[in-house]
Amino acid sequence: MATRVFSGIQPTGAIHIGNYVGAVRNWVRLTREHECYFSIVDLHAITIPYEVKELPARIYEAALDLLAAGLDPERCVLFVQSYVPEHTELCWLFNTLASVGALERMTQFKDKSEQFRENVNVGLFDYPVLQAADILLYKADLVPVGEDQLQHLELSREIARRFNHHFGDTFPEPKPALTPAARVMALNEPTRKMSKSIPGSFISLADTDQEIRKKVNRAVTDVGPLEGEMSPGVKNLFTLLEAFGTPEQVAHFQAQYDAGSLRYSELKPAVGEAIAGELAPIRERRAALASEPGGVWEILDAGAERARVVARRTMEEARERMGLRRK
Ligand code: TRP
Repeated sequence: MATRVFSGIQPTGAIHIGNYVGAVRNWVRLTREHECYFSIVDLHAITIPYEVKELPARIYEAALDLLAAGLDPERCVLFVQSYVPEHTELCWLFNTLASVGALERMTQFKDKSEQFRENVNVGLFDYPVLQAADILLYKADLVPVGEDQLQHLELSREIARRFNHHFGDTFPEPKPALTPAARVMALNEPTRKMSKSIPGSFISLADTDQEIRKKVNRAVTDVGPLEGEMSPGVKNLFTLLEAFGTPEQVAHFQAQYDAGSLRYSELKPAVGEAIAGELAPIRERRAALASEPGGVWEILDAGAERARVVARRTMEEARERMGLRRK
């Protein structure tokens, strides 16, 4: 039986090459073999402080980049979470199965409540339960995520087990598919993850060839002497070459490095060119999509319609199982 895949991405606006090799490129691969649902999770995004007037553009840009990066709306269902209200309804049913203690132990909740002390809201606390609803609404069995989401996934499995135990077999236990890709670090601060919130740290999918080359050439490589270990910046350049270049290129520069003769003046242009080469067709698709008025929003509306067909069916089943419907 074909596997059903679900994953979510935060609407942070235009996506960068870290998101691309860490998640999106893998999603595109999964659409070739599985029935895939991908959601831009706006309801998760509003659990931390945000600028209201910026949110629609963040959603739009994320969708534009996902489509440009190769998610084909003919081969997967791409939609905005809040357009499918069944997510919040299932979340409420699941709230009755999730324990406060388990939610208090979530490291993301602990981190975020440290970071936003002034606004530790119930939505932030409930975030992992909404995530479980996202996944189980489509009865997904496979969830491509990064390592930081494993704890949330474990909670989704726990909720599925509890539901099945109390109300009868309904949901599969979703398994994580750890994305094989390496972590891409900030170009200007290679000890931290590449991030939209660190200016100068990222290359976006819309960057031009010149911008890409310039950013790679400026990437921090040395951070003082390190005994026998590759510096984080150089390591990051190798990560990028592995992600975007050929195995031969990686072997070539690795041999230079081992011989102590690595030249950044050769490595950097090679990395820049490899990235620019892969991003060129993406940038073109992005421009074509952006020039079609209504194009992206129409795709998202159609995606939500398709998602709702499955979502409604699951909700009917869940309500009945929980005794919320007359016999
Ligand atoms: N919490 C995930 C993240 O921050 C995003 C997400 C929301 C998600 N719902 C999901 C991921 C369901 C996988 C499945 O990356």
